Amino acid sequence: MALILAADEQAILTAASTLAEGELVAIPTETVYGLAADATNGDAVARIFEAKGRPHFNPLICHVSDIAMAERYALIDPLSRRLIDAFWPGPLTLVLPLKPEAGIHPLVAAGLDSIALRIPRGIAGKIIAALDRPLAAPSANTSGKISGTSAEAVADDLGQKIALILDAGPSEVGLESTIVKVQGDAVLLLRPGGLAAEDIEAVIGNKLERLDQRAAIQAPGMMTSHYAPSASVRLNVHEVREGECLLAFGPLRAMDAELAAASLNLSETGNLREAAANLFDFMKRLDSFGGAVIAVEPIPFNGLGEAINDRLVRAAAPRSLSTDEMEQIK
Ligand code: TXA
Ligand code: MG
Repeated sequence: MALILAADEQAILTAASTLAEGELVAIPTETVYGLAADATNGDAVARIFEAKGRPHFNPLICHVSDIAMAERYALIDPLSRRLIDAFWPGPLTLVLPLKPEAGIHPLVAAGLDSIALRIPRGIAGKIIAALDRPLAAPSANTSGKISGTSAEAVADDLGQKIALILDAGPSEVGLESTIVKVQGDAVLLLRPGGLAAEDIEAVIGNKLERLDQRAAIQAPGMMTSHYAPSASVRLNVHEVREGECLLAFGPLRAMDAELAAASLNLSETGNLREAAANLFDFMKRLDSFGGAVIAVEPIPFNGLGEAINDRLVRAAAPRSLSTDEMEQIK
C-alpha cells in the first residue's frame, strides 16, 4: 500500500528523490491529483500507463516549475506567451511545438511533435524544481474512472500500484486543466477545464475556437464512457425517480427530490466554482452508495459549467464500448 505523506518540505524532497529513481508519485495540483513520473525517463513514463491500465499511449501533460523550464522543451509563440503570463501557474495547459532533442521522452507526447505543458499551482512546482526535470502526470485514477481530487481517493484507486502519495488536502479547482493550442491568430479549445473559456477570451480579446462537439460525438467511437461511476448517470433531471441518487445543483430542487435514496448538492448557492471542486468527490460518494442511477440536475453552461457538463456527458455515455473506443476520448 502506498505511503501517504503530508506535503511538507521534507515530503517534497522525498517525492523528488523517489521520482529521480524512476518511481511514480501521486502529487497534489490545484486541478486534480496527478500520477507523476520523470518525463525524461521512458521507463518511468511507461509505468504511468501500466498503473492506470491504459492500453494505449496517448499523449500526457508535462508539468514544469517555471517558464525557463518550459522554454527548454517547447517553442513559445507570442500569443501563447500572453496566455502564459496571464494564467501560469494555473489550470491552463498549452500545446506547443516540441524541441525534439531537449530530452522529454517521446512516450510522453506519444510520438507527436508537440507537447502539452503547464505550471501547476501549489507544491507540485516545488517538487519539479527540486527534481529539476519536468513531470509527466495524467490525473491519478485508473483509466476511465473518476479523477482523484484527494489523497484518500487516490489511495482507494491506485494505492496498491504506487509507492508514494503526497497529501495536500482536497484539490482547489477539482477539474482537469483547460487545454488550448494557438494556431495562427486563433486559439483552439482542445479540452474545457478548470479555467473558464470566458477568462481566456478576456485576455486574447477574441472568441476561442471550439471543435464541433456534436460532430465529435457523432463520429464513431467518440460517444464513449469516461469518468465513469459504476451507477448509470441520467442528466438534466427535472423529476427524480424513486431510489435514484441525486446530484443536485443550486437552491431549487427537481420535482420529487424527496424520493432520492441519497442526495448531495454541488453548490447550494449555484456557484459553478464550488460545484467544480465538489464534482468528482460527490460522484464518487453517490456511487459508493450503491444505487443503480445517479440523477443530475441541470447545470448551466457558462464559466466552469462548460467543463462540468463535458465531464458529466462523458460519465453518462454508454458503457458498451470497446477498449479501443474508450481510449479515443481519454
Ligand atoms: O489538470 C490536469 O491537466 C491534470 C493534472 C494532473 O495536471 N492532468 C491531466 O493530464 O489531465 P493528462 O495527461 O491526462 O491530459 C492528457 C490530455 C490528452 O488526452 C490530450 O487531450 C491532451 O492532454 N494532450 C496532451 N498532449 C497533447 C498534444 N501534444 N497535442 C494535443 N493534445 C494533447
Ligand atoms: Mg484523466
